[in-house]
Amino acid sequence: MTRIIAIMNQKGGVGKTTTTINLGHALARAGKKVTLLDMDPQGQVSTGYGIDNSQGGLDQVLLDGEYIDDKIIVGRDNVDIVPAGTRLGDFEHLATGGTSRGHKLRRAIEESSLKQSDFVLIDCPPSSGLLGINAMFAADELLIPVSGDYLSLQGLSRMMQILKRAESLSGKNAIKLWLVTTRMQMRRRLTKEVRNKVLKYFPTRVFQTVIRENVSLAECPSFGKTIFDYKLSSAGAEDYQSLAQDVLQGRTS
Ligand SMILES: Nc1ncnc2c1ncn2[C@@H]1O[C@H](COP(=O)(O)OP(=O)(O)OP(=O)(O)O)[C@@H](O)[C@H]1O
Ligand SMILES: [Mg+2]
Repeated sequence: MTRIIAIMNQKGGVGKTTTTINLGHALARAGKKVTLLDMDPQGQVSTGYGIDNSQGGLDQVLLDGEYIDDKIIVGRDNVDIVPAGTRLGDFEHLATGGTSRGHKLRRAIEESSLKQSDFVLIDCPPSSGLLGINAMFAADELLIPVSGDYLSLQGLSRMMQILKRAESLSGKNAIKLWLVTTRMQMRRRLTKEVRNKVLKYFPTRVFQTVIRENVSLAECPSFGKTIFDYKLSSAGAEDYQSLAQDVLQGRTS
């Protein structure tokens, strides 16, 4: 069965894209077939894999009704990528289509070959608009990265409100929720406080692996490389490999 996971947090810079890119590659290296969907108009999943975002992708799927299957690009062994395309931002302002606008991605996935993947990871933009709603309706699971700064906790409570609203709108309850703490500097008191608070609010939903702040993770996208291409011996590679095992085994703290 395919696990469709939206990587979401309306707060910016918490590590959504970094997690999509590197968790995706880690799962592929563990033998899983993975498809990455770039639902952020910034198009950074493509950048991270050294792929040209301007050839189109989800923008043409959502705005023009093209097939996802025609937009797939092979990123690495076992990693397929559907880029954002340059017009994806226009979809956020789409005024026509009523409530069905929120279900376009889900329908597009249903009529694609994506159900042959073990995992579909959706990188979401830092907003709570139509793109995020589409990702939420398409996904069975939400993975929320929470970074090690205090404002991150505020983002989290807002995130929970959005999730509740989406659940009541879609009629689908119990979308599975996971959290991962990212960009953690465990020597800092604040970082430990954030991790403890997250564990307190979501005692059974926080993945065991702590993603540490690691300079190689920040460097690799500029080379079009994942952490596994760029520096296999880094803390970043170790952490994302471990996170992949958490995801495969449902291993929480
Ligand atoms: N564990 C980490 N260690 C060091 N740098 C990191 C780490 N995770 C992310 N970064 C860096 O932090 C910045 C923000 O990360 P990223 O783009 O993944 O966040 P995002 O949540 O996708 O942001 P946005 O909301 O803009 O889409 C990037 O420059 C990224 O390289
Ligand atoms: Mg991002």
